[in-house]
Amino acid sequence: MSSKPNEVAVQRRWDWHYPLIARAEGIYLWDTEGKRYIDGSGGSSVVTSIGHGVKEIPAAMAKQAEDYSFYPAHAFSNPRLLELADLVAGIAPGELRNHCKIWMTVTGSEATDDAARLARQYWVVKGQTQKHIILGRWQAFHGDNIFAVSMSGLTVRRRMFTPMFRDMPKIPPAFCYRCYFEKTYPGCNLLCARVLEDAICQSGAENIAAFIAEPVVGSALAACPAPDGYFQIIREICDRYNVLFIADEVMTALGRTGKMWGIEHWGVTPDIIALSKSLTCGYFPVAAIVARNELWETLRAAGAHFRAGHTLNASAVGMAAAIETIRYIQKHNLVENARVVGDYFLGRLQELLQYRCIGDVRGKGMMIGFEFVADKATKAPFPPEREMSRVFSELTFERGLITYPCAGTVRGVAGDTILMAPPLITTKAQIDEIMAILHDSLRAFEAQVFGA
Ligand SMILES: Cc1ncc(COP(=O)(O)O)c(C=O)c1O
Repeated sequence: MSSKPNEVAVQRRWDWHYPLIARAEGIYLWDTEGKRYIDGSGGSSVVTSIGHGVKEIPAAMAKQAEDYSFYPAHAFSNPRLLELADLVAGIAPGELRNHCKIWMTVTGSEATDDAARLARQYWVVKGQTQKHIILGRWQAFHGDNIFAVSMSGLTVRRRMFTPMFRDMPKIPPAFCYRCYFEKTYPGCNLLCARVLEDAICQSGAENIAAFIAEPVVGSALAACPAPDGYFQIIREICDRYNVLFIADEVMTALGRTGKMWGIEHWGVTPDIIALSKSLTCGYFPVAAIVARNELWETLRAAGAHFRAGHTLNASAVGMAAAIETIRYIQKHNLVENARVVGDYFLGRLQELLQYRCIGDVRGKGMMIGFEFVADKATKAPFPPEREMSRVFSELTFERGLITYPCAGTVRGVAGDTILMAPPLITTKAQIDEIMAILHDSLRAFEAQVFGA
């Protein structure tokens, strides 16, 4: 693999020769050697919904930057912020639609952190000052800052840091392929949701501020949707025990799963939603939380300013990028395309089950994943030190397809998966192109792993 050696810029891996990116358009990227790659995972991790090189976005950003870019946000508001907030409120799911307020920040980790801050501050203002725990789930990812890691249940990304934070309790994930309760849906009575009540009672509802979950688990379980009925039970338990429900839609929001919001598949309304990636599709770093009016109005009535904020929040250039991105998603019916082409993709992905090393395929809309097994009958994973998802991802990369390797489906310490999330503009013909590379890579993978 070609790369320009550089001893100064630190990138995540020491053992990977990063090719230099030259340009990107639609679902394709090219390196400086002229090699073409299909963006099969949405720009690494489920970001690039509208695709690359959409001229309208930089045009809107440039225009905004010419008028003004950075401004003293402690003293001024900006029209783009107000416009974006109205736009998001107008498409918010369920009872949040036009009954919510939007707070802008910069990254997904800051959005989940601010969601937790809002939950905490809301209860404090209401006099329930003990409520401070954010209950989470194992095999969940809510970001990489230290508090987000405490809510997250992705062992490989948290274990080293646990002495640095106060850990938050967790319930098992909704993960049918490796059900924690060794049950089968629907006969399972959705124990994975009902166990939330046990966790709340054990920690004491008076201590629990919120429960956080991804509607479709992204990097921790490679596109694993909760089963039908799951979030309805979660919502009901949260209501019964006065616990707020935070939907982490950093990956799923704005069409990725074939609905504008991931949680719409379950028809329930969260109290707070965190979103980021598809909000600007990587053209500029922007994230947000959307929360019920009542939460904000409680703070307002008490004269309690929201205790959160980063210097670069609500950048006018970022707001312009987000407005144009949402308009683009709407204008080009990308939510519908994600549903139609996503169904086609998931249908074709069933073909992978013919391989000895593939145990499961799953997903919703254009957020899809598959899981490797060393033994299909027992679902035994490969030894984690063999890093099989990385090995596979390198095979697809050589063949011009970017896939996202994930790990940790088995007790957080083993279990290799691949997350696929091509841009929502992808056509069925392009899915066929992706499938051809997946087949070719799997044949090479099996020859390497099991012998020819
Ligand atoms: C579900 C979820 N929440 C939060 C985050 C954190 O977002 P960021 O990487 O922008 O901080 C991610 C990132 O992958 C995510 O997938």
